[in-house]
Amino acid sequence: MSGPVPRVHIVDDDRAVRNAVRVNLSKQGYDVTLSTNADQAIHALEDRPVDVVLTDVAMPGRSGLELLGVIRERWPEVRVVVMTGYGSVQDAVAAMKAGADDYIIKPVSKDELVVIVERALKEKGLLAELAQLRREVREKFGFENLIGTTPAMMEVYELIKTVADTSALVLVHGPTGTGKELIAQAIHYRSRRQNGPLVRVNCAALPENLLESELFGHEKGSFTGAVRQHRGKFEQASGGTLLLDEVGEMSLTTQVKLLRALESGEVTRVGGTEILKPDVRLIAATNRDLREEVKAGRFREDLYYRLNVFAIQVPPLRDRRDDIPLLVDHFVRRFSEENLRPALSVPAATMQRLIDYHWPGNVRELKHVIERGVILSKGDALGGVKLPEAPQGREPQREVLPAGMTLQAALLEYERRVLIEALKSTKGVQAQAARDLGISRSNLNYRINRLGISVKDVVYE
Ligand SMILES: Nc1ncnc2c1ncn2[C@@H]1O[C@H](COP(=O)(O)OP(=O)(O)OP(=O)(O)O)[C@@H](O)[C@H]1O
Ligand SMILES: [Mg+2]
Repeated sequence: MSGPVPRVHIVDDDRAVRNAVRVNLSKQGYDVTLSTNADQAIHALEDRPVDVVLTDVAMPGRSGLELLGVIRERWPEVRVVVMTGYGSVQDAVAAMKAGADDYIIKPVSKDELVVIVERALKEKGLLAELAQLRREVREKFGFENLIGTTPAMMEVYELIKTVADTSALVLVHGPTGTGKELIAQAIHYRSRRQNGPLVRVNCAALPENLLESELFGHEKGSFTGAVRQHRGKFEQASGGTLLLDEVGEMSLTTQVKLLRALESGEVTRVGGTEILKPDVRLIAATNRDLREEVKAGRFREDLYYRLNVFAIQVPPLRDRRDDIPLLVDHFVRRFSEENLRPALSVPAATMQRLIDYHWPGNVRELKHVIERGVILSKGDALGGVKLPEAPQGREPQREVLPAGMTLQAALLEYERRVLIEALKSTKGVQAQAARDLGISRSNLNYRINRLGISVKDVVYE
């Protein structure tokens, strides 16, 4: 840490206000302490001086105005901001007259709070340090928008840093919901293309011919419905980054065209002749195991080698359980804030269940579970957390999944149970399991990879 952490002391008899203000300021990297009344605040200041005091006016015992008087006399360098309710603007006026540096009207909006505290600190010349500090606070829990500090995630961050500012193609793979799109964003925003566009194409969402015109564009009249010229995503991404999401779902024909574009650096709109040379950096993401896809004849080997110059593998959440508490904390705060309530605490037993669960939908599923929990919570603690039971026993088909899961999470969970059962009963022989399930071997393989199932663990469980 460089330089001292700015200290803010909050004085309010209302616990909800104290907590909301504390959460918002802690996130900004401040060192925040609390008092419930003026006398307590004076003791705290005697113990340890602070930079800014944020105080309520009407409190049991001495009022905020009296506290202001004491601070002005004994600690003249401390900035004082008073917080008053809508109905008592005259309190704010009185406070300013009595020497307050600023005031803020309750309910305290987060943005206003941050601005006012920053302004108070600026007058104290503390802001330069704050910028540095924020960076460090963020990096303590993760990287860019990614949360996680386990070795597996640290390795991902290192890879992002290494590759971001090069022009190398990047292939990001990992099971669903593990943050592949966030990783692509981190790469883009750390590259010198950060001010250019980041354009995403979901290769799974469109039928073959539409995907082609989406990627390369088309000329007016090139096919029925092409009523005007359309610039493709390659063109749109020029000067920036193009994310080819779910690249494993691309048809073989489109793969040929993509490969040609990559090799020549040139694209032509469908039905057009003009040769365009968009300046694009490509990132591809997939939850398939592309090597398996190549073996199964569904993915071109030459394209695979072309894409796989620099690979980033994201592990499933259950392989980095130490990140779960951080993620839970992050999402609890985020959704508490979004729902305008003070940050909920997480009971130890709830946290343990969250850590033990196997998260077939990974971080995305965790995020939904917490969002729902926060919304359903009644008191100060996180309630409403519903998790499917751990897979157990035979005949999973008859089991009913608990209500309250998203459809996607429920389907993934169900699929996971079915696959695990099949693998167990064939002692891990995948060819047999695939036959039992009535799917191809490579289809089974795709599903195993997508869900991050470890066949070894399943069999020797
Ligand atoms: N490490 C992480 N820290 C914080 N949020 C995360 C992390 N990983 C994923 N998320 C969140 O989980 C959700 C899913 O992430 P994302 O869309 O990047 O996953 P994905 O790997 O692309 O999934 P899919 O394969 O299904 O497309 C997003 O809301 C994202 O913000
Ligand atoms: Mg994605």
